Amino acid sequence: MRDIQSERIKLLQSGHVPIYEPGLGDLIIKNKERLSFTLNVDEALAHAEIVFVCVDTPPTSAGDADLSRVWSVLRSLKGAAHLAAVVVKSTVPVGTGARARSVLDEAGLGHVGYASNPEFTAEGRAVSDFLNPDRVVIGASDAETARLVEELHQGVNGDVVVMDIPSAEMARMASNALLATKISFINEIANICEATGADIGNVSKAVGLDHRLGRHFLQAGIGWGGSCFPKDSEALKQLASNTGYHPQLLSAVIEVNNLQKRRAIQKLKDQLGTLEGTQIALLGLTFKPGTDDMREAPSAVLASRLLAEGAAVRCWDPLARPADVEPWTSTTRHESVLDAVTGADAAIVVTEWPQLREVTWGEARGLMRRPVLYDGRNLLGPQTMRDLGFTYLSVGRP
Ligand code: UDX
Repeated sequence: MRDIQSERIKLLQSGHVPIYEPGLGDLIIKNKERLSFTLNVDEALAHAEIVFVCVDTPPTSAGDADLSRVWSVLRSLKGAAHLAAVVVKSTVPVGTGARARSVLDEAGLGHVGYASNPEFTAEGRAVSDFLNPDRVVIGASDAETARLVEELHQGVNGDVVVMDIPSAEMARMASNALLATKISFINEIANICEATGADIGNVSKAVGLDHRLGRHFLQAGIGWGGSCFPKDSEALKQLASNTGYHPQLLSAVIEVNNLQKRRAIQKLKDQLGTLEGTQIALLGLTFKPGTDDMREAPSAVLASRLLAEGAAVRCWDPLARPADVEPWTSTTRHESVLDAVTGADAAIVVTEWPQLREVTWGEARGLMRRPVLYDGRNLLGPQTMRDLGFTYLSVGRP
């Protein structure tokens, strides 16, 4: 395995995983005889028959996926003597396979097969999602390349679907867009529940029991974030726009998500009047529990809006790295939830960390200056919190 970041390679060589991903460390230790990590591309390619391209594809200023790292990896394959196939795992727009073919041809690798093998694993569950996938999608240039990639998945417990390259590229984009759509949809229904007196918990349950709709990704909340949904939905929107098509539904899905985060600020304003001079506690910073990832986390939007409104932000999270919180100037970080809420005019549950269920909320209530609690993940019981004296607000619940 090759990377360009020496710190990462050093950690991996010494048996450590540079990211928080349950089970990955054990897997690396178990297979250490068969794994090697290097900064040197020639070393990585010396005996390689199949190369997986797993570089990131961040958004350009136009919102498209930046493929420069993919091209740079493909060009570095020039001269790889044993190479039979190049497999792209990175999330790339539809049409990348055709452009990749030209890059490979120019590098003298016209005989090498190409496949798109999109990634469907979720953070915090990557190992189990990889070993027990709902499906393995392989879009291949030819039957032999498809066979090679399929063979590599022996032992993986899931159906393999082989198709053309553009369809495989689109399958990844469409899956993430549909998951994001389900969440934005249920968030919109939750907002309508608030205005009409229905309870989103009951509604989600009833809707999800229809096997055609499915119960997953119907948890209403403060909005989706992470390294995939925001970037991928925007990239799909731009991909469509670049062809002259206006993706109305996808645009609405993204907008509903942006508004959902701002709605939390409005709800606090309704309770506190102005936010100027207030102290607000953010409970949970990562984009979801079970990860230390802060990419596109709703907490970042909330912190920045609160600071802009003149509030002081106090925060707590069990895994977020301090360096990721640093850009929010004037934010203070606390070791415990009780410290974070001390003197606060309001607290927002941003990430549904299980630790938040264990908080002695009666004590927390006594430490706060004003007892406003906005539960952005519907983690706590409305009646219990109101009985404790909180002005308790949540998403889509009466
Ligand atoms: C996602 C996809 O699930 C995965 O298949 C793909 O490979 C990468 O993107 P991930 O970003 O790790 O995985 O997180 P996921 O668990 O899907 O959650 C994404 C966001 O949606 C989080 O912010 C989460 O809080 C939010 N979410 C999820 C909801 O708000 N409600 C839900 O019902 C589910």
